[in-house]
Amino acid sequence: MRHHQGHVLQAAPEASRNSGVGGGHQAVELVLAHGSCYSTVLADESRKRVVVAIDGPAGAGKSTIARGLAERLGFTYIDTGAMYRAVALWALRQGVDWGDMHRLEQLAEAADIELSPGRIRLNGEDVTEAIRETAASNGASKVAVIPGVRRAMVAKQRAMGWRANVVMEGRDIGTVVFPDAEVKIYLDAHPGERVRRRLEEVRAKGETMEEAALAAHMAERDRRDSTRADAPLAQAPDAVYLDSTRQTIAEVQEAILKIVRSRVTNGKDFR
Ligand code: DC
Repeated sequence: MRHHQGHVLQAAPEASRNSGVGGGHQAVELVLAHGSCYSTVLADESRKRVVVAIDGPAGAGKSTIARGLAERLGFTYIDTGAMYRAVALWALRQGVDWGDMHRLEQLAEAADIELSPGRIRLNGEDVTEAIRETAASNGASKVAVIPGVRRAMVAKQRAMGWRANVVMEGRDIGTVVFPDAEVKIYLDAHPGERVRRRLEEVRAKGETMEEAALAAHMAERDRRDSTRADAPLAQAPDAVYLDSTRQTIAEVQEAILKIVRSRVTNGKDFR
């Protein structure tokens, strides 16, 4: 297994416009924090990267599962929801109106978003905790309805996925960002269970929130994410549907690993 720990993937804002699937390799700035064998892997420009796309609603377990999966595969984990959250946070700080689509698109294009294991930086500032606050969560699903914002995010995401093997999670990865992904998973869970998990996360952070308020908040975000005109949350026709309601994280990860092995390597390369 290759070890890709400690690296940073950064999509430079000004370069992102030209990128697309399989194109625009100049758009990605790959910074290796610790020496790794990535450089040799990347030296072969013709080598096809592997994309494992995981989509689904909030609270289905995507982040935990995708992160662990990436670790086991030696792939780069990309949380695309964090990118929308970062744009929303910037907009909040700038006092931009959620209706100002043009300005929000400008921010999304200009945002310098850097993902490294467990951390996210926006324009050089570590915003890992700030993007998880309620205002940024609400804002994320608002900026995510704007086609120009999505265009900018998709370009950055494609640029990140172009040069590295990735496990990328979000809402439109298998449908829009990488419709040619080798592995597509649609991860779902019963709404009640999704609320329960989010509540646990909130409480683990030492915060308090009424279950009914959280459920209403999640239902509203789900509604916005799945009914927007541009790239709504949807299962790609060729995605494997997995329901995590009664499964442990390890069980779901194992099920996805089996699919990766069968689709990508015939079981040879990846553990
Ligand atoms: O996964 P999350 O809750 O961190 O995502 C934050 C918001 O961003 C959520 O409302 C849906 C939106 N999103 C999106 O529209 N497309 C993605 N690929 C990822 C997230």
